[in-house]
Amino acid sequence: MIFFDAQENTFYLDNGRITYCFGLAKEGYLECRYFGRHIRRCNGSARPWYFDRGFCSNPDPQDKRFSLDTLPQEYPDMNQGDFRSPAYVMQTPDGRRVTRFLFQGYEILQGKPSLPGLPATYVEHLQEAQTLVVRLADAHTGAQIWLYYTIFREYDAICRHVEVVNGSTDALWLERLMAMSMDFPGGDYDLLTLSGSHLMEKVVHRRPVTADAVVLDSCRGASSPQQTPCVVLTEPQTDESRGQAWGFNFVYSGDFQAVVQAGQYGSVRVQMGLNPLTFGWNLEPGQRFVSPECVLVYSHTGLNGMSHTFHRLYAQRLFRGPWRDRVRPILLNSWEAFTFSIDEEKCLSLAKQASELGIELFVLDDGWFKNRVDDRRALGDWVTDRTKFPHGLGRLAQAVRDAGVDFGIWFEPEMVSYDSDLYRSHPDWIIRSPDYAPILSRSQLVLDLSNPAVQDYLVEAVSAVLEETKASYVKWDMNRHITDLGSSWLPARQQRELSHRYMLGLYQVLERLNQCFPQVLFEGCSSGGGRFDAGMLYYMPQTWASDNTDAVCRLQIQSGTSLLFPPVTMGSHVSAVPNHQTGRITPLETRFAVALGGNLGYEMDIRTLTPEEREEVRRQIRTYKALRETVQHGTFYRLLDPQQHNDAAWNFVSQDGNTVVCCQYRVLADPLRRTTVVRLQGLDPEATYRRQEDGVCFGGDELMYAGLGDRPVRQDFVSVISVFEKVEP
Ligand code: GLA
Repeated sequence: MIFFDAQENTFYLDNGRITYCFGLAKEGYLECRYFGRHIRRCNGSARPWYFDRGFCSNPDPQDKRFSLDTLPQEYPDMNQGDFRSPAYVMQTPDGRRVTRFLFQGYEILQGKPSLPGLPATYVEHLQEAQTLVVRLADAHTGAQIWLYYTIFREYDAICRHVEVVNGSTDALWLERLMAMSMDFPGGDYDLLTLSGSHLMEKVVHRRPVTADAVVLDSCRGASSPQQTPCVVLTEPQTDESRGQAWGFNFVYSGDFQAVVQAGQYGSVRVQMGLNPLTFGWNLEPGQRFVSPECVLVYSHTGLNGMSHTFHRLYAQRLFRGPWRDRVRPILLNSWEAFTFSIDEEKCLSLAKQASELGIELFVLDDGWFKNRVDDRRALGDWVTDRTKFPHGLGRLAQAVRDAGVDFGIWFEPEMVSYDSDLYRSHPDWIIRSPDYAPILSRSQLVLDLSNPAVQDYLVEAVSAVLEETKASYVKWDMNRHITDLGSSWLPARQQRELSHRYMLGLYQVLERLNQCFPQVLFEGCSSGGGRFDAGMLYYMPQTWASDNTDAVCRLQIQSGTSLLFPPVTMGSHVSAVPNHQTGRITPLETRFAVALGGNLGYEMDIRTLTPEEREEVRRQIRTYKALRETVQHGTFYRLLDPQQHNDAAWNFVSQDGNTVVCCQYRVLADPLRRTTVVRLQGLDPEATYRRQEDGVCFGGDELMYAGLGDRPVRQDFVSVISVFEKVEP
């Protein structure tokens, strides 16, 4: 899959469907040549025309046609005549930032090496992928930058990351480090990003790339609900099922920066890496620094095609452990029903009723630990509140299991309250500057996870509760962003390393817990989907998609999230009405139809349901169990975009192709009762499908090309779920 054409000085990564190609220019500079649909050879038909453009600097004084300012580069330096965004910035011991990294050699490895201490995609067998390592060296310092490129046989994705190796006798200071950089050739592109806020995560924003640079970043200590480490370039005409799309996603959960920069002569530079605002790294002689990885996906079948590659790659080669391939349990979460006023009696009565309805897991959310009566205290003290749970959590968990459902529990381990025993005994364990009172958010402080003693404490505290309760599920929350970046653990010269060291510490803790409790299903959360990223999914294969459980808002949030992540990752719950966040009253049927688009749960006091509602919920759970293999492990197609229309629709096709689930939604009633037709995708045009509801049969071709109409009802917030089974001709 990887080879070097020595005559052309060109590297090829090719799996028969995609080709990624770059070459050596002037023997030392890496020139981007092509990333797209498979081509047999890249002989330069689209190569930029090099000529003396004037006002461009020339590293070879004899050749004025050659300038780094116009060269499409793979990993551009700063200060060498390419005045676009550099891939890295490194300060040398003389205080300068002038370095020149030129090609030195390469190596091709079978498989894909792991990234020490970092989440990353992986292979199970060496034949699944090949990795190219290109070594760049700076003659003056002796430092090297190694560029890693992995291509998979089965997935149309390339993974890139870099390693900086300090081979000199002095320390180097890394100020900026991108996992990847590449330059697209001139043309018209649209840029899609997933930006948002708490309660409205992952909203798709699309705009043409004209001039200037678009910089996405987070300096919040989390990938954040405001921005997602993801950029997608498309052709202007690309839609869900047609056209080219190039997706870039950083496998990292902390501060990041992504740059999309239009060049003066029509090129577009894309970069993704650590956020230089909060990143800095002191690299001692002999040390190496490994960046997180960026996944690059190419599709010529529109955005759905791109999403399918991300979904398959992540579901099969990013998630780990036994839950990777299992269907996920339907849960009942205590939060929206009871917030902090939870106790043993409420838990048990909920668990019993949950079991009668067919729910499989009861999750005890916030409020279970000592003194936690509101959000102003007690974080950090992970011991049971005996006033609420007089018999202890071990007994409660067993009683819950005896009632017929599994037991799961909420933690927010990275945090501490002022009013807590943990803070009183370890005031030096928090992130703060000694010179200022730390800024609070949700009345809480952030623990300094760069400190190994803090890491150990978290592993021990969480393990003790998991051992006592034998919980099968953990909801791991993180409800504030990081301010006052300062650590009493790190020496002065390493303070700038804190943001990244925090993430390394967190990954370390999660890895240890994954190893100790392989059977436990972890679900990530950060005030909803505030840390819904590929890094977290390596340790926790699902995430609570949003604190906003309103069915109408969830259409947009789940649709946006699905650009990168498969439905199996999205915690989506049916909650009470009026909705806690919007006050909107939507029918139970529609709340379910939206929650079915992910990993189903309920988040309400089910004891207050009427007998009719109870019957409906029981039916919903039966339906979901019958369909969840298709929803969670099938292929997901976005059909109608809720951001653009009053309607939304998506369909799922099971792995074996035999089951198709189509969900249609209309937000507001249409006085004209116009028919909205959705054209299903992913069916076999030759096959016949029987609609479960009425037994009527349709050809796959009809469902895909003529489409499926909706029902002309006079009502807001309507939904229809249609299930089709393939039948023998
Ligand atoms: C966050 C989560 C909620 C809930 C609360 C508990 O807001 O997103 O689901 O767990 O914390 O405090």
